[in-house]
Amino acid sequence: MTDDIRWEVVEESTLSLPDHEAIAALLGRAFPDWSHWYVGGRSWAGMQPERRVLARDAGGVVLAHVGIRRMFITVGGRDVLVGDTGLVAVSPRLQGTGKGRDLMERAHAVLEGLGVPYGFLGAGENRVPFYANLGWHVFDDAVADYTAFTAEGAGLPMTDQGGWMVLPVAERLEDWPAGPIWLNGQQV
Ligand SMILES: CC(C)(COP(=O)(O)OP(=O)(O)OC[C@H]1O[C@@H](n2cnc3c(N)ncnc32)[C@H](O)[C@@H]1OP(=O)(O)O)[C@@H](O)C(=O)NCCC(=O)NCCS
Repeated sequence: MTDDIRWEVVEESTLSLPDHEAIAALLGRAFPDWSHWYVGGRSWAGMQPERRVLARDAGGVVLAHVGIRRMFITVGGRDVLVGDTGLVAVSPRLQGTGKGRDLMERAHAVLEGLGVPYGFLGAGENRVPFYANLGWHVFDDAVADYTAFTAEGAGLPMTDQGGWMVLPVAERLEDWPAGPIWLNGQQV
């Protein structure tokens, strides 16, 4: 496999079945504990993104991926428009070589292009330092209510504290409201 990497920003409705299959294959490799979710063309776990950043090799294999979707969430009683960001993955073979940074810099540019006040994500599995290194701020005390991923059936209500991260895009971090977060749905 060549390491010639081609980056793309794609809109969800342009993706073909082979595109979804190639993305799902990467997600299965990057999240081995959840590989049973990313079967066939199921290239998402919860809310489907509206925009994705992809890196492919010359053969079309997807090597890196992030999904983004605009949504309103409620923070401290206020509606806040965010670019919800998820399905962040780099092929295991390339992890630790700077591709995650390249990916998230492109995600930042997409969030700017969408004109959202903030990027938003829930970081799992000790990934907070990775995102913090790239300009995302963690709200350690924030508690969020949301609907769990539906990859295994009905999405059920969940409450989590820790790992909720915000990237200031069109607005200042200081203006992020205090208080609990209600996602009122699933994340990407
Ligand atoms: C998390 C992930 C996307 C990072 O991508 P990557 O290509 O390995 O990261 P990079 O090599 O670009 O590293 C970028 C920077 O983050 C740092 N970093 C990477 N992973 C880190 C971690 N787990 N903790 C702290 N810092 C980390 C690197 O040291 C590097 O810092 P530098 O630029 O100052 O040298 C990748 O490891 C991955 O796909 N993991 C499996 C799926 C996953 O966990 N996704 C995130 C779910 S929230």
